[in-house]
Amino acid sequence: MLKVGVVGKGGVGKTTLSSMVSASWSRRGRRVVAVDTDSNPNLGISLGLTVGETEAIPVLPRSVVVGHRGDLTVEELLEDYGTTTPLGPMVMSALRVSEAGAGCTCGGHATVRSLLGEVIEEHADVTLIDMEAGIEHLSRSGGTLAYADVLLMVMEPTRKSVITAARTIALAAELGIPRCIGVGNKARLPEDRGVLEELCAEHGVPLEAVVPHDRGLAEADRAGRALDPDAGGPAWDEIGRLLDEIETTVAADPLVPVGD
Ligand SMILES: Nc1ncnc2c1ncn2[C@@H]1O[C@H](COP(=O)(O)OP(=O)(O)O)[C@@H](O)[C@H]1O
Ligand SMILES: [Mg+2]
Repeated sequence: MLKVGVVGKGGVGKTTLSSMVSASWSRRGRRVVAVDTDSNPNLGISLGLTVGETEAIPVLPRSVVVGHRGDLTVEELLEDYGTTTPLGPMVMSALRVSEAGAGCTCGGHATVRSLLGEVIEEHADVTLIDMEAGIEHLSRSGGTLAYADVLLMVMEPTRKSVITAARTIALAAELGIPRCIGVGNKARLPEDRGVLEELCAEHGVPLEAVVPHDRGLAEADRAGRALDPDAGGPAWDEIGRLLDEIETTVAADPLVPVGD
């Protein structure tokens, strides 16, 4: 079982890449659970649900302890809160503004943390968390992503988004998250690849993939359509290479903490 957190500044493409990675892993026959933690969830739409179906996804209860000794077993959680999408992955929703009461979403994060901490090997090969923007969730209440095996740090070709990734690496090391992988996105090649390479070298961010800007992705998103792997093209090819990289280095190797 692989536990993946997708993090980065707002608007860099976390939900887009979460959807593409989840759908691509599904195509490879993996059982994927994708968790949307955005307060304005739309991962379900990118995975082929309608807007109505996405809005109907039940929000995970707050501050629930998952597992045999907890409030809900993993089976109950998947059965009650999981929605299988047309592109394959099962999607869950961790919080939503209307549910967030006074604005604190810590309870929803605690549930996600518990879910990740629980062994759900029997039910999923990959659990992916599409994180809301920012990095405070890495430190909040013990670290929502404390049990993640790998963080995909999504960056645009801008210094600010690379600096966010660099800060993420430091927080991940404190939490003991073993791997951080930098993923450039929305690159207008070849210039932006060079920009990302330079910025990442300067700030000590490992850059493992550069996903090109793809008009088809932007248009599908605008129209509220699924991001269909059958569309193909360089962006999907790069996601395929990223999965190969994760499967060979993260999943196969003994996990080595960041900084070793
Ligand atoms: N590789 C890409 N090519 C073109 N547009 C992209 C790409 N990745 C993301 N976008 C667009 O950028 C915007 C923000 O993406 P989104 O995934 O919602 O970001 P985040 O989840 O980080 O806030 C959306 O309009 C999306 O369609
Ligand atoms: Mg998002």
